[in-house]
Amino acid sequence: MLTIALPTGRVFSQAAELIRRAGLPSKELSSPGRRLVIEEEGIRYILAKPTDVPLYVGYGTADLAFAGGDVLLESGMPLVELLDTEQGRCSVVVAGPPSLSCRFHGHASELMGMKVATKYPRIADNYFSSRGAQVDILHLHGSIELAPKLGLADCILDIVQTGNTLRANFLEILEEVCTVSLRLVGSRKSIAFRWPEVREIRRKIEEAVKEMPL
Ligand code: PRP
Repeated sequence: MLTIALPTGRVFSQAAELIRRAGLPSKELSSPGRRLVIEEEGIRYILAKPTDVPLYVGYGTADLAFAGGDVLLESGMPLVELLDTEQGRCSVVVAGPPSLSCRFHGHASELMGMKVATKYPRIADNYFSSRGAQVDILHLHGSIELAPKLGLADCILDIVQTGNTLRANFLEILEEVCTVSLRLVGSRKSIAFRWPEVREIRRKIEEAVKEMPL
């Protein structure tokens, strides 16, 4: 039996739709209810919190998984990326009040000591280190836009999709860090020992990706 980890939350429906279009078993998956493990026709799906998905694959509990590029970058787990589904595309950005804009376009020393709120401390650390700026990273778990609004932080590093949350909180993009999307990843062990099965699933999902509207 092959195990595929799926992230719950906003990208679950996209992952489930790709599975359905790929012709993989998906009858039960369309109405999971509160189940966390669903087995159908030789595939076990596990439904995990998005940030936990890389761990299930990294430790070989799951053979394959769908995971957001942001979550993968943040996890730092040694996974094998098999396919970019191009679904759920969004940007990782640094955002803040418009008044901060000039500091971002000046010398790195202007950023020194800045307080940055984020769900992505590893990405934030890498980004600001690459700019040669030592900043104070505040690890929050959601509603990141609150932090600069209430003076807890100067700016945020977060994902942006429509930009609605930024606009609603009078924040603007100061720098784009990278773009991310939903990826199909595999565990090193499964790729080494179960490659024919993994390759077949990858092939089917690749076909489904071509027909999926963005
Ligand atoms: C994410 C992200 C932003 C928002 C961006 O939060 O952290 O807050 O979505 O989306 P937008 O550009 O379309 O407005 P999420 O909705 O996952 O909730 P959270 O703040 O609880 O993490």
